[in-house]
Amino acid sequence: MTGDLLRASTGEGLRGRVVAPGDKSISHRALILGALAEGETRIEGLLESQDVLDTAKAVRAFGAQAERLAGGEWRIGGAAWRSPRAPIDCGNSGTGVRLLMGAAAGYPLEASFTGDASLRERPMDRVLEPLVRMGARTDGSRRLPVNLGGGALTGIRHLSDKASAQVKSAILLAGLRAKGPVEVVEPAPSRDHTENMLRAFGCDVEIGPDEAGHCVRLGRRRALTGTRVQVPGDPSSAAFPLVAALLAPGSEVTVEGVLLNPSRTGLFLSLTEMGADLSVANRRDKGGEPVGDITARTSALRGVTVPALRAASMIDEYPILAVAAAFATGDTLMHGVGELRVKESDRLQAIIDGLAACGVEAEAKGDTLRVRGCGGTVRGGARIRTLGDHRIAMSFLVLGLASREPVTVDEAAMIGTSFPGFVPFMRSLRAAVARPE
Ligand code: S3P
Repeated sequence: MTGDLLRASTGEGLRGRVVAPGDKSISHRALILGALAEGETRIEGLLESQDVLDTAKAVRAFGAQAERLAGGEWRIGGAAWRSPRAPIDCGNSGTGVRLLMGAAAGYPLEASFTGDASLRERPMDRVLEPLVRMGARTDGSRRLPVNLGGGALTGIRHLSDKASAQVKSAILLAGLRAKGPVEVVEPAPSRDHTENMLRAFGCDVEIGPDEAGHCVRLGRRRALTGTRVQVPGDPSSAAFPLVAALLAPGSEVTVEGVLLNPSRTGLFLSLTEMGADLSVANRRDKGGEPVGDITARTSALRGVTVPALRAASMIDEYPILAVAAAFATGDTLMHGVGELRVKESDRLQAIIDGLAACGVEAEAKGDTLRVRGCGGTVRGGARIRTLGDHRIAMSFLVLGLASREPVTVDEAAMIGTSFPGFVPFMRSLRAAVARPE
């Protein structure tokens, strides 16, 4: 798709203040919980990206109302979910399809789920296997398209072998209408937005250590009542302008209203350990989540070792961390990153191939990624195959904002799945991102 290219080149440094777009994880959950709840939910700051719009369409197909009142402002009317007339197409969104399958499984309905070519390659058994143990019926497929039959579920104690918020959330959502105890035990805590939002909708959720790991348990009160949800800014999107400012000489950028929930801030911790000049001001609460304004200034970075235990808190940020690591002095080792192989693309391979094309050495051994830092300057000068992955595209555009030669990415329209308006947003900070002539 040659018409779908973007190119980034070095300019005079990034400067300015911007507001972070709404958090994608919280946006999906606000729509789904609103659609399951009794009464009306009002959402402010919903991220209107393609992934989230696909979830809005899906909840309507299950019988709920989802009405856009103004930019980011939505009114959701909950309903008892019914069988949709057509397959639920979740596009590119793993979060959308996995959470929707969990929510739908609680109702006596039949639904078929599908998605784009990337989503159809991704594993669904991690969610379907526990849902089937709870009493849901499937056609046995481990990948999309999947036919799912729900209703009359029983409780479950699920020992997850990975810290996955999507798996945890799918089980909790199904568990809302299951009989008996519902417990998910994770090896380490994953993002806790479902738990926080369930509580805001009136459901009892208990959280704590357990002999097997970190346990989340639904309490007795599982009915949801519509409420008001304010969506904080997405740290996974704020990462791109902030890292661009760290790398491009002469930069100072502030991104306002960024979610600072510790289950999401592993990137900022890792960058700080690398010597990044990052500061947080105006810490406050937004809709029950901590937020703040983050300022990044051009910094000389050094390589670090990122422990596997931190992976859950920055799982979507490894592509942009790998770009930062390419500019650092010394190697950066990232442990526990095997899950990157089953994201929107095989991100480990996409990172390694993209960096190699830009003159940076990187390799994966087992679940560890090593990036050899170039010590301040990276060649760039490549056309990157993004494999249709929005975060690979944005990460390599950031590389191109600070490399000696411009960087072009393909399938740039996919950026709209998580960050609509990325180009004008970056341009408002003086970043040189444009369609190549
Ligand atoms: C998400 C969980 C993570 C993350 C994804 C969003 C969520 O996936 O990569 O982008 O909103 O629950 P896993 O649960 O598969 O780790």
